[in-house]
Amino acid sequence: MTMTKKLIITLLLLISIAFVHCLAFHVELEEFEPPRQEEQEAPVGEGSGEGWQEESTSEFPYHFRKRSFKNWFQSKEGFVKMLPKFTKRAPNLFRGIENYRFSLYDMEPNSFLVPLHLDADSVVIILQGHGVAEFVTAKTKELFHLTKGDVVRLPSGITHFAINTNQTVPLRFAKITIPVNNPGQFQNYFSAPSQFQQSYFTGFSKEVLSASFNIPEELVGRIFFGPQQMGQGIMRRITPDQIKELTENSTSPSNKHKDKSTKFSPFSLFTHDSVSSYTNDFGHFHEAHPESFDQLQDLQIAVTWTNMTQGSVFLPQYNSKATFVTFVENGCARYEMASPYSFQGEQQQQQWWPEQGEEKEEDMSGQVHKIVSRVCKSDVFIIPAGHPFTIVSHDENFVSVGFGIYASNSIRTFLAGQGNVLSNLDTVATRVAFGVGSKVAEKLFTSQNYSHFAPTTPSHQQS
Ligand SMILES: *[C@@H]1O[C@H](CO)[C@@H](O)[C@H](O)[C@H]1NC(C)=O
Ligand SMILES: *[C@@H]1O[C@H](CO)[C@@H](O)[C@H](O)[C@H]1NC(C)=O
Ligand SMILES: *[C@@H]1O[C@H](CO)[C@@H](O)[C@H](O)[C@H]1NC(C)=O
Ligand SMILES: *[C@@H]1O[C@H](CO)[C@@H](O)[C@H](O)[C@H]1NC(C)=O
Repeated sequence: MTMTKKLIITLLLLISIAFVHCLAFHVELEEFEPPRQEEQEAPVGEGSGEGWQEESTSEFPYHFRKRSFKNWFQSKEGFVKMLPKFTKRAPNLFRGIENYRFSLYDMEPNSFLVPLHLDADSVVIILQGHGVAEFVTAKTKELFHLTKGDVVRLPSGITHFAINTNQTVPLRFAKITIPVNNPGQFQNYFSAPSQFQQSYFTGFSKEVLSASFNIPEELVGRIFFGPQQMGQGIMRRITPDQIKELTENSTSPSNKHKDKSTKFSPFSLFTHDSVSSYTNDFGHFHEAHPESFDQLQDLQIAVTWTNMTQGSVFLPQYNSKATFVTFVENGCARYEMASPYSFQGEQQQQQWWPEQGEEKEEDMSGQVHKIVSRVCKSDVFIIPAGHPFTIVSHDENFVSVGFGIYASNSIRTFLAGQGNVLSNLDTVATRVAFGVGSKVAEKLFTSQNYSHFAPTTPSHQQS
């Protein structure tokens, strides 16, 4: 008897715990619509694991908050933060972009990023500040001056270094990386040792290095294995005189003159003729397509810069092929997206029924999942191909940059505003499809006379 009673009590207890959990879960789901003013950054380290768990189950997988970034390097001279692999969050949803990694760099004034190469291609957008990057090959040294809105293609294996040349403003850039050895994984290879990472020369014996460089083994030991660079990170302080010397003696093909530029010269999203732009009182949009830039062509990466005025909507649209990884550079906005894909409990499914294999059953429910999230400075959000989306900057100016993956021949199709695709439907098609009379059919998709960006308050409501 007592056993049965105990069992019943245990069961009741379990049920009530489950119930409370469900409630808590529900509240969390509801909670992230209202604006959060100052997003607190979770401390990196012991607390971050917990934040990750909570985040992956209670938020839309398309939205990576600032705290999702992991510190890869941090010192007085700057930091490098990287997002975990997208598939770590949602293995099925992001399988197509598994091989791409997003990171954020910040270099303090007068700092130097020591020479390195990667087993990955990368594309960089300069978000803020002034700096130089030098690409070094056995035959050439190319130094480029960089500023806000510049796009840099970093070929896999190229030895390069960077300097923040400004005395007061940090140099910040966002980077998408496409590994060449292992999907979603890459490494940085440094010739010089630091406290942070060994020199790649430590992979060789001192005997070989001594013979190769024709220097004594003792010197080899001191330079490549020695402790003298300990305490030094991969970003180091550099004096204004050293900056001057470095930048004066290098060839410097200007970014501004197209004729002089080489295949991998940086270009500006704001001034280059081949960048497509939309602009009106409510926003500016610049997009570099891979078809128009050698730098982006083989990687099939598109690059965008969006700047919206408070009280604007970036009209509903979708991309035909490109999936955009979008980083919020400034302000906050509401991102709305329609997704026919179910993502509820993606991670649990993987853990509970691994024997079902990788494939998840296709969602045939016909349901549209309404993805609504308030995205703020340093957040990342994903816009998959084909998904209609919009961005609304209600209460703040909003600036974001985007990297479009699989962007070759991708077309951006607007669903509202002048020249939108639906306004080009035959009136008969509109009438039959939406079940409206001809008068409504004519007005439905043609009443918005702004294109691309529009005010959040419809003009017919204004007095
Ligand atoms: C540093 O950046 C600030 C702000 O963009 C600018 O006004 C200043 O001229 C820059 N200084 C140098 C030395 O580049
Ligand atoms: C840079 O050029 C100056 C002369 O213009 C020269 O004095 C100096 O040694 C050069 N520095 C390096 C590192 O080559
Ligand atoms: C956004 O656009 C406004 C108006 O053109 C401009 O003043 C501002 O500097 C821009 N900001 C960024 C970060 O592009
Ligand atoms: C847009 O249409 C509204 C009426 O719907 C009109 O009042 C307004 O002047 C138009 N604006 C432009 C820029 O054509």
